[in-house]
Formats: sequence, C-alpha cells, structure tokens
Amino acid sequence: MKTTCPFSAMADEISNICSGTFQKIQSDGTYRRTFHAALLANVAGELEIFPSIPDHYRLGLFLEAKKYPVTARFSSSLFANENYPDARGMALKIHHVSGAVCDDAPEGEHTIVTINQPTFIAQDAEDMLAYMRKMDGVKALSPLNIAPPTYTFPSLNPAKARWGFVKAMLYTLSQYFQRRDLAQYHYYSISPYRLGESAMKYEFRPASQPVGKGRTLRERLHSHLLQAPLEFDFFIQPKTLETDLVDNLFQVWQSPTHLVGRLTFPVQDFLQAALFEAGEQLSYNPWYCLEAHEPLGSINALRREVYKNSALRRGSY
Ligand code: HEM
Repeated sequence: MKTTCPFSAMADEISNICSGTFQKIQSDGTYRRTFHAALLANVAGELEIFPSIPDHYRLGLFLEAKKYPVTARFSSSLFANENYPDARGMALKIHHVSGAVCDDAPEGEHTIVTINQPTFIAQDAEDMLAYMRKMDGVKALSPLNIAPPTYTFPSLNPAKARWGFVKAMLYTLSQYFQRRDLAQYHYYSISPYRLGESAMKYEFRPASQPVGKGRTLRERLHSHLLQAPLEFDFFIQPKTLETDLVDNLFQVWQSPTHLVGRLTFPVQDFLQAALFEAGEQLSYNPWYCLEAHEPLGSINALRREVYKNSALRRGSY
C-alpha cells in the first residue's frame, strides 16, 4: 500500500513557486533546471568502494569492494555570472549498482547530490517553504535579493532569527573569497540518507594538487583535467551521536567520518565530449537511488516532488 507523503502539499506549493518565479521559459522556448541551471561541466569518472569498510556499514552501495562508472555534473546554484558569490554543486550518477531502488527510480542507478558547503539555507521543510514564499514573484535573482530580511528575522526577537541561514550565506561568501577552483572544494550532501537502521551523510574531500589554470571555474577544471586526473576521497558520516539531528540542515554533525572510497575523474577533454551537451538532459534526483540509502528528513521529502516536477517541465523525466 502506498502512503501519501505528509509533505506533498508543501512540495506542491514550492513547485508552483518554482515554475512561476525560478524556472522561467527561455527565449528559445525551452526550460532549464529550476536551480543549478548554470552548467560548469559534465564529466565522466569512476567511484571506487574500498574493501576496508567496517562490516556493519557493508550494505547498499558499500556491500562489496568495486569500481562503478560515474557521470558527474558541476554547476552553480543560482547565478550564471561567476562573479556573484554562489554555492557550487557536484551531482553524481553512479551506474550499474545492484539492489532495490526507491519507487519510480531507474534500476541500477544511485545518485549523490552535493554542494560545496556543509549546511543549508533552510533547517527543515517548513523553513524551505517560508523561504520560497519570500522569494515568490522576484523578477530576476541577484545577490541583493536572495536573502530576504524577513526570512532571516521573522520577528524582532533575536532568538527567533534564522542564524543558520546567515551562517550558510557567510560560508558561501568565504568559499568565494578563499578559492575558486572546483577541484579544491569539499562537497557535502548536507541532508542525511539511510544506512541500515540509522542515517549517514556523504562527503567528498579533494585529493589532487591544484594544477588548473584559467579565468573561470570551467576553464580551470578543463585545464586540470587535460593535465592530470582529478581525485576526491569519499567519506560517509554515519550518525552515531544522539545530538546529531536528522531534520536540521543548519547543523554540522559531529559524528566521526569514515573513508569508504575514492572518486576519480581521469584525464579527459570534457568540452569535446558529447557528454557536455547530452548531460543537460539527465536528471539528477536524490530519490533516484538505492532503497538502502533512501533520502531522510523533511527537506529530502520535499525534494522528491520538486525535482521531479522541475525535470518534467524541462522534458527530462
Ligand atoms: C540538502 C540540500 C540540497 C542540496 C545539497 C542540493 C543540491 C542540488 C544540486 C547539486 C542540484 C543540481 C543537480 C544537477 O546537476 O542536475 C540541484 C538541483 C535542484 N534542486 Fe537542490 N539541493 C538541495 C536542496 C534542495 C531543496 C530543499 C529544493 C526544493 C525543495 C531543491 C530543488 C532543486 C531543484 C528543483 C533542482 C533542479 C532539478 C532538475 O531540474 O533536474 N534543492 N540541487
């Protein structure tokens, strides 16, 4: 028996705001992604799962030591103009995985969607809806209107302020000023996913020397991948502490992380490859994944419908 998602009314309202405000029709009559429409690179790679994983984490993607082909999409979250501070995304499609997948997900595929910061702009689904309501009707996104003061400070009571939003924004700014190299960012799932009876987060840490040159993020990644492979250590952070909460994306978990594998993008000319264009048709949905690592928490519940509707509108579902 299928149950109705308790967040579906919220997801519907957010999807409506997305279509009216964020996912506008382009001059050529097409639609692009609602968020992360600004493509930086579509890249082919490989995810290796190491043999040395503790037995109690040996399930789902981590069941056996193996190498999986990966399709990755690097993106900017809101702005095509790179001179604006913005979060950068790395979305992974891991192919040829075995095991049951979530309802409606394609067989053999496991998705991991990350950005280069550990916390989000909304703590939970209610916060996300509050944020989207404040943004509803904005004509053109700019760094000046993405932080509505009444979202940050819903009342004069400082205890009610969304300090987590301020923290996430400051983190984006700090990344922007510190380094502008996709090869050198840490990428976090931010939201949790099932791991047995508990939850985990995913994290990728850079494991290559910075060798890319160029004016833009794309040019630097392109130059890096023409000269050397790009590597990231793959960590999971199983929730082992009571104080780490599943439904609070303002919080940085304190549970220890475990190295479980390595993500490698071999030397390639991604601007020449067909994947660069074809990748835009792909749909990276966190719910296209193994049931063993089903997305958890209220924000992830919203994402199920919102990503699907966004992909449907742009004809990629
Ligand atoms: C844990 C927090 C989140 C992270 C790490 C995240 C990250 C990402 C990334 C990396 C992409 C680009 C995927 C691609 O390259 O195709 C993306 C797309 C998108 N995100 Fe999120 N996101 C988060 C939360 C949300 C929330 C709360 C919503 C709305 C409820 C949302 C709505 C979307 C939509 C609509 C797309 C475009 C999907 C498509 O058209 O294929 N995201 N997100």
